[in-house]
Amino acid sequence: MAMASHSAQALSLACEGVLRRGQSRPSLPGVSTAAEYQSAVRVAITAAAVALSTSKRLLVLAGAGLSADAGVPTFRGEGGLWRTHDVERLATPGGFAADPEVVWDWYRERRLHVASCSPHPGQRAIALLSAHLPAPAQVLVATTNEDDLLERAGVNQVVHLHGSLFDTMCAANCGWRAKDDQDNLLSLRPCPACGARVRPGSVWFGEALPSGPLEAVARFEPDACLLVGSSLLVQPVSGIPNDLAAAGRPVVELNPEETGFSQVAAASLRGAAKDLLPPLVDLLTSRTMQDQRRRVT
Ligand code: APR
Repeated sequence: MAMASHSAQALSLACEGVLRRGQSRPSLPGVSTAAEYQSAVRVAITAAAVALSTSKRLLVLAGAGLSADAGVPTFRGEGGLWRTHDVERLATPGGFAADPEVVWDWYRERRLHVASCSPHPGQRAIALLSAHLPAPAQVLVATTNEDDLLERAGVNQVVHLHGSLFDTMCAANCGWRAKDDQDNLLSLRPCPACGARVRPGSVWFGEALPSGPLEAVARFEPDACLLVGSSLLVQPVSGIPNDLAAAGRPVVELNPEETGFSQVAAASLRGAAKDLLPPLVDLLTSRTMQDQRRRVT
Protein backbone atom coordinates (compact mmCIF):
# COMPACT_ATOMS: atom_id res chain seq x y z
CA MET A 1 0.00 0.00 0.00
CA ALA A 2 2.77 2.40 0.95
CA MET A 3 4.75 1.47 -2.16
CA ALA A 4 1.74 2.04 -4.39
CA SER A 5 1.11 5.54 -3.10
CA HIS A 6 4.83 6.26 -3.45
CA SER A 7 4.51 5.20 -7.09
CA ALA A 8 1.66 7.58 -7.67
CA GLN A 9 3.60 10.42 -6.11
CA ALA A 10 6.71 9.72 -8.16
CA LEU A 11 4.60 9.59 -11.28
CA SER A 12 2.97 12.90 -10.60
CA LEU A 13 6.39 14.46 -9.95
CA ALA A 14 7.69 13.06 -13.22
CA CYS A 15 4.83 14.61 -15.18
CA GLU A 16 5.27 17.93 -13.43
CA GLY A 17 9.00 17.74 -14.11
CA VAL A 18 8.32 17.66 -17.82
CA LEU A 19 6.15 20.72 -17.54
CA ARG A 20 8.28 22.67 -15.06
CA ARG A 21 11.34 22.50 -17.24
CA GLY A 22 9.33 24.10 -19.98
CA GLN A 23 9.92 21.19 -22.32
CA SER A 24 7.36 20.84 -24.99
CA ARG A 25 5.00 18.04 -24.12
CA PRO A 26 5.03 15.16 -26.56
CA SER A 27 1.84 15.47 -28.55
CA LEU A 28 -0.73 12.87 -27.59
CA PRO A 29 -4.03 12.40 -29.39
CA GLY A 30 -6.86 14.21 -27.62
CA VAL A 31 -4.52 15.77 -25.06
CA SER A 32 -4.17 19.55 -24.86
CA THR A 33 -3.82 20.63 -21.22
CA ALA A 34 -1.13 19.82 -18.68
CA ALA A 35 -3.66 17.98 -16.51
CA GLU A 36 -4.77 15.86 -19.45
CA TYR A 37 -1.14 15.08 -20.23
CA GLN A 38 -0.43 14.00 -16.64
CA SER A 39 -3.49 11.82 -16.64
CA ALA A 40 -2.63 10.27 -20.03
CA VAL A 41 0.93 9.54 -18.90
CA ARG A 42 -0.35 7.98 -15.68
CA VAL A 43 -2.66 5.68 -17.63
CA ALA A 44 0.12 4.80 -20.07
CA ILE A 45 2.58 3.95 -17.29
CA THR A 46 0.05 1.70 -15.63
CA ALA A 47 -0.67 -0.02 -18.97
CA ALA A 48 3.06 -0.45 -19.59
CA ALA A 49 3.65 -1.90 -16.12
CA VAL A 50 0.75 -4.30 -16.51
CA ALA A 51 2.03 -5.43 -19.93
CA LEU A 52 5.44 -6.24 -18.42
CA SER A 53 4.22 -7.45 -15.07
CA THR A 54 4.25 -11.19 -15.79
CA SER A 55 7.59 -11.24 -17.57
CA LYS A 56 10.19 -13.65 -16.21
CA ARG A 57 12.92 -12.63 -18.65
CA LEU A 58 12.62 -8.96 -19.36
CA LEU A 59 14.89 -7.43 -21.98
CA VAL A 60 15.59 -3.72 -21.59
CA LEU A 61 16.76 -2.54 -25.00
CA ALA A 62 18.04 1.03 -25.15
CA GLY A 63 18.99 3.36 -27.98
CA ALA A 64 20.46 6.84 -28.13
CA GLY A 65 17.33 8.43 -26.64
CA LEU A 66 18.22 6.92 -23.27
CA SER A 67 21.53 8.77 -23.16
CA ALA A 68 20.05 11.97 -24.62
CA ASP A 69 18.83 13.06 -21.20
CA ALA A 70 22.38 12.80 -19.89
CA GLY A 71 23.53 15.21 -22.60
CA VAL A 72 24.82 12.72 -25.18
CA PRO A 73 23.46 13.66 -28.63
CA THR A 74 21.28 11.17 -30.50
CA PHE A 75 22.02 10.33 -34.14
CA ARG A 76 18.90 11.28 -36.06
CA GLY A 77 16.79 13.52 -33.80
CA GLU A 78 17.05 17.27 -33.31
CA GLY A 79 20.75 18.09 -32.89
CA GLY A 80 21.50 14.47 -33.86
CA LEU A 81 25.05 13.59 -34.92
CA TRP A 82 24.07 12.36 -38.38
CA ARG A 83 22.34 15.67 -39.09
CA THR A 84 25.56 17.61 -38.70
CA HIS A 85 28.26 15.03 -39.34
CA ASP A 86 29.12 12.94 -42.39
CA VAL A 87 28.39 9.27 -41.68
CA GLU A 88 30.49 8.07 -44.63
CA ARG A 89 33.51 10.01 -43.44
CA LEU A 90 33.26 9.22 -39.71
CA ALA A 91 31.59 5.86 -39.29
CA THR A 92 32.58 3.57 -42.14
CA PRO A 93 35.75 1.54 -42.79
CA GLY A 94 36.21 3.51 -46.05
CA GLY A 95 36.05 6.84 -44.21
CA PHE A 96 38.67 5.67 -41.72
CA ALA A 97 40.96 4.43 -44.48
CA ALA A 98 40.66 7.80 -46.24
CA ASP A 99 41.36 9.98 -43.20
CA PRO A 100 42.02 8.17 -39.92
CA GLU A 101 42.98 11.34 -38.05
CA VAL A 102 39.62 13.02 -38.74
CA VAL A 103 37.85 9.93 -37.42
CA TRP A 104 40.08 9.70 -34.36
CA ASP A 105 39.64 13.42 -33.58
CA TRP A 106 35.88 12.94 -33.62
CA TYR A 107 36.04 9.84 -31.44
CA ARG A 108 38.35 11.49 -28.90
CA GLU A 109 35.96 14.43 -28.75
CA ARG A 110 33.01 12.07 -28.15
CA ARG A 111 34.93 10.11 -25.51
CA LEU A 112 35.74 13.30 -23.61
CA HIS A 113 32.16 14.54 -23.92
CA VAL A 114 30.65 11.27 -22.62
CA ALA A 115 33.17 11.22 -19.77
CA SER A 116 31.89 14.66 -18.74
CA CYS A 117 28.23 13.45 -18.64
CA SER A 118 26.57 11.81 -15.66
CA PRO A 119 23.86 9.14 -15.55
CA HIS A 120 20.33 10.50 -15.10
CA PRO A 121 17.48 9.14 -12.93
CA GLY A 122 16.11 7.03 -15.80
CA GLN A 123 19.41 5.19 -16.17
CA ARG A 124 19.62 4.71 -12.41
CA ALA A 125 16.05 3.38 -12.50
CA ILE A 126 17.17 0.70 -15.01
CA ALA A 127 19.93 -0.27 -12.56
CA LEU A 128 17.32 -0.56 -9.80
CA LEU A 129 15.06 -2.64 -12.03
CA SER A 130 17.84 -5.06 -12.96
CA ALA A 131 18.77 -5.50 -9.32
CA HIS A 132 15.33 -5.50 -7.75
CA LEU A 133 12.74 -6.92 -10.10
CA PRO A 134 11.34 -9.56 -7.78
CA ALA A 135 12.50 -13.16 -8.36
CA PRO A 136 12.06 -15.32 -10.35
CA ALA A 137 12.09 -12.51 -12.92
CA GLN A 138 15.40 -11.63 -14.53
CA VAL A 139 16.43 -8.56 -16.48
CA LEU A 140 18.94 -8.29 -19.30
CA VAL A 141 20.06 -4.79 -20.25
CA ALA A 142 21.24 -4.43 -23.85
CA THR A 143 22.00 -1.26 -25.77
CA THR A 144 23.18 0.05 -29.09
CA ASN A 145 24.74 2.96 -27.20
CA GLU A 146 28.49 3.00 -27.01
CA ASP A 147 28.74 5.07 -23.85
CA ASP A 148 29.28 3.73 -20.33
CA LEU A 149 26.45 5.62 -18.62
CA LEU A 150 24.42 2.52 -17.75
CA GLU A 151 27.46 0.94 -16.09
CA ARG A 152 28.09 4.17 -14.20
CA ALA A 153 24.40 4.21 -13.20
CA GLY A 154 24.97 0.85 -11.51
CA VAL A 155 23.86 -1.77 -14.06
CA ASN A 156 26.09 -4.79 -13.40
CA GLN A 157 26.26 -6.18 -16.87
CA VAL A 158 25.42 -4.28 -20.05
CA VAL A 159 25.33 -5.99 -23.44
CA HIS A 160 26.79 -3.51 -25.94
CA LEU A 161 25.44 -4.48 -29.34
CA HIS A 162 27.30 -1.78 -31.32
CA GLY A 163 30.58 -1.87 -29.39
CA SER A 164 32.07 0.60 -26.93
CA LEU A 165 33.19 4.14 -27.54
CA PHE A 166 36.14 3.54 -25.21
CA ASP A 167 37.54 0.48 -27.01
CA THR A 168 40.54 0.77 -29.31
CA MET A 169 41.35 -2.11 -31.63
CA CYS A 170 43.74 -3.16 -34.36
CA ALA A 171 42.58 -1.83 -37.73
CA ALA A 172 44.29 -4.77 -39.47
CA ASN A 173 42.11 -7.20 -37.49
CA CYS A 174 44.97 -9.01 -35.73
CA GLY A 175 42.59 -9.42 -32.80
CA TRP A 176 44.15 -6.89 -30.42
CA ARG A 177 41.59 -4.76 -28.56
CA ALA A 178 41.81 -2.80 -25.30
CA LYS A 179 40.02 -0.16 -23.26
CA ASP A 180 41.69 3.18 -23.80
CA ASP A 181 42.66 5.31 -20.83
CA GLN A 182 41.41 8.82 -20.09
CA ASP A 183 44.11 10.44 -22.20
CA ASN A 184 43.30 8.16 -25.17
CA LEU A 185 46.95 7.17 -25.30
CA LEU A 186 46.37 3.88 -27.11
CA SER A 187 44.63 5.73 -29.92
CA LEU A 188 47.89 7.56 -30.65
CA ARG A 189 50.10 4.48 -31.00
CA PRO A 190 50.43 1.58 -33.42
CA CYS A 191 48.88 -1.76 -32.48
CA PRO A 192 51.08 -3.24 -29.72
CA ALA A 193 50.51 -6.75 -31.13
CA CYS A 194 51.28 -6.29 -34.83
CA GLY A 195 52.29 -2.67 -35.42
CA ALA A 196 49.35 -1.81 -37.71
CA ARG A 197 47.22 1.30 -37.26
CA VAL A 198 44.60 1.22 -34.49
CA ARG A 199 40.95 2.28 -34.87
CA PRO A 200 37.95 2.90 -32.61
CA GLY A 201 36.27 -0.32 -31.43
CA SER A 202 32.81 0.78 -32.59
CA VAL A 203 30.79 -1.18 -35.12
CA TRP A 204 30.59 0.98 -38.23
CA PHE A 205 28.12 1.08 -41.09
CA GLY A 206 28.81 -1.75 -43.51
CA GLU A 207 30.31 -3.96 -40.77
CA ALA A 208 28.83 -7.05 -39.15
CA LEU A 209 27.90 -6.83 -35.49
CA PRO A 210 30.05 -8.98 -33.18
CA SER A 211 28.16 -12.22 -32.63
CA GLY A 212 28.70 -12.45 -28.85
CA PRO A 213 26.29 -9.67 -27.75
CA LEU A 214 23.56 -10.77 -30.18
CA GLU A 215 23.94 -14.34 -28.96
CA ALA A 216 23.71 -13.18 -25.35
CA VAL A 217 20.32 -11.62 -26.11
CA ALA A 218 19.14 -14.74 -27.98
CA ARG A 219 20.31 -17.04 -25.15
CA PHE A 220 18.38 -14.96 -22.63
CA GLU A 221 15.17 -15.82 -24.53
CA PRO A 222 13.30 -12.66 -23.53
CA ASP A 223 9.59 -13.01 -22.97
CA ALA A 224 9.01 -9.23 -22.91
CA CYS A 225 10.88 -6.08 -23.82
CA LEU A 226 11.11 -2.50 -22.62
CA LEU A 227 12.36 -0.53 -25.61
CA VAL A 228 13.76 2.87 -24.65
CA GLY A 229 14.79 5.72 -26.94
CA SER A 230 15.43 3.85 -30.16
CA SER A 231 14.35 4.86 -33.66
CA LEU A 232 14.66 1.18 -34.66
CA LEU A 233 16.05 2.26 -38.02
CA VAL A 234 19.20 0.17 -37.87
CA GLN A 235 19.34 -3.56 -38.52
CA PRO A 236 19.85 -6.15 -37.16
CA VAL A 237 18.96 -4.80 -33.70
CA SER A 238 15.61 -3.47 -34.93
CA GLY A 239 14.69 -7.11 -35.58
CA ILE A 240 14.80 -7.94 -31.86
CA PRO A 241 11.66 -6.10 -30.69
CA ASN A 242 9.92 -6.74 -34.02
CA ASP A 243 10.48 -10.50 -33.70
CA LEU A 244 9.32 -10.48 -30.07
CA ALA A 245 6.15 -8.56 -30.97
CA ALA A 246 5.49 -10.91 -33.92
CA ALA A 247 5.77 -13.83 -31.49
CA GLY A 248 3.07 -12.25 -29.32
CA ARG A 249 5.47 -11.03 -26.60
CA PRO A 250 4.68 -7.66 -25.03
CA VAL A 251 7.04 -4.88 -26.08
CA VAL A 252 6.62 -1.52 -24.37
CA GLU A 253 8.04 1.47 -26.16
CA LEU A 254 9.28 4.61 -24.38
CA ASN A 255 9.94 7.44 -26.81
CA PRO A 256 8.81 11.08 -26.97
CA GLU A 257 7.91 10.50 -30.60
CA GLU A 258 5.85 7.96 -32.46
CA THR A 259 8.07 5.45 -34.27
CA GLY A 260 7.53 2.82 -36.93
CA PHE A 261 7.16 0.36 -34.06
CA SER A 262 4.43 2.20 -32.17
CA GLN A 263 1.60 0.43 -33.96
CA VAL A 264 2.65 -2.98 -32.65
CA ALA A 265 3.82 -1.89 -29.20
CA ALA A 266 1.86 -3.36 -26.27
CA ALA A 267 1.97 0.14 -24.73
CA SER A 268 3.67 3.39 -25.71
CA LEU A 269 5.04 5.87 -23.22
CA ARG A 270 5.41 9.31 -24.77
CA GLY A 271 8.01 11.32 -22.90
CA ALA A 272 11.63 11.48 -21.87
CA ALA A 273 13.45 8.51 -20.35
CA LYS A 274 14.59 10.47 -17.33
CA ASP A 275 10.99 11.41 -16.47
CA LEU A 276 9.13 8.20 -17.24
CA LEU A 277 11.52 5.40 -16.31
CA PRO A 278 11.62 6.14 -12.56
CA PRO A 279 7.82 5.91 -12.06
CA LEU A 280 7.58 2.88 -14.36
CA VAL A 281 10.30 1.05 -12.44
CA ASP A 282 8.76 2.15 -9.16
CA LEU A 283 5.51 0.53 -10.23
CA LEU A 284 7.14 -2.62 -11.66
CA THR A 285 9.02 -3.27 -8.44
CA SER A 286 6.12 -2.32 -6.15
CA ARG A 287 4.49 -4.71 -3.73
CA THR A 288 1.22 -4.35 -5.66
CA MET A 289 2.86 -5.68 -8.82
CA GLN A 290 4.63 -8.39 -6.87
CA ASP A 291 1.30 -9.62 -5.48
CA GLN A 292 -0.21 -9.51 -8.94
CA ARG A 293 2.71 -11.49 -10.39
CA ARG A 294 2.34 -14.16 -7.68
CA ARG A 295 -1.35 -14.50 -8.44
CA VAL A 296 -0.86 -14.82 -12.21
CA THR A 297 2.24 -17.05 -12.32
N1 APR B 1 13.97 9.81 -24.02
C1 APR B 1 13.63 8.73 -24.78
N2 APR B 1 13.78 8.70 -26.13
C2 APR B 1 14.29 9.79 -26.73
C3 APR B 1 14.65 10.95 -26.00
C4 APR B 1 14.47 10.94 -24.59
N3 APR B 1 14.79 11.98 -23.83
N4 APR B 1 15.10 11.88 -26.88
C5 APR B 1 15.03 11.33 -28.11
N5 APR B 1 14.53 10.06 -28.03
C6 APR B 1 14.29 9.11 -29.13
C7 APR B 1 14.05 9.75 -30.48
O1 APR B 1 12.68 10.10 -30.65
C8 APR B 1 14.49 8.64 -31.43
O2 APR B 1 13.41 7.75 -31.72
O3 APR B 1 15.48 8.36 -29.29
C9 APR B 1 15.54 7.89 -30.64
C10 APR B 1 16.97 8.12 -31.13
O4 APR B 1 17.06 7.66 -32.46
P1 APR B 1 18.46 7.63 -33.22
O5 APR B 1 19.13 8.93 -33.13
O6 APR B 1 18.20 7.06 -34.57
O7 APR B 1 19.35 6.60 -32.34
P2 APR B 1 19.32 5.02 -32.31
O8 APR B 1 17.98 4.49 -32.65
O9 APR B 1 19.90 4.60 -31.03
O10 APR B 1 20.32 4.68 -33.50
C11 APR B 1 20.73 3.36 -33.73
O11 APR B 1 22.25 4.08 -35.42
O12 APR B 1 23.92 5.45 -36.26
C12 APR B 1 23.64 4.27 -35.64
O13 APR B 1 25.21 3.08 -34.40
C13 APR B 1 24.32 4.16 -34.30
O14 APR B 1 23.59 2.92 -32.37
C14 APR B 1 23.19 3.86 -33.35
C15 APR B 1 22.13 3.31 -34.26
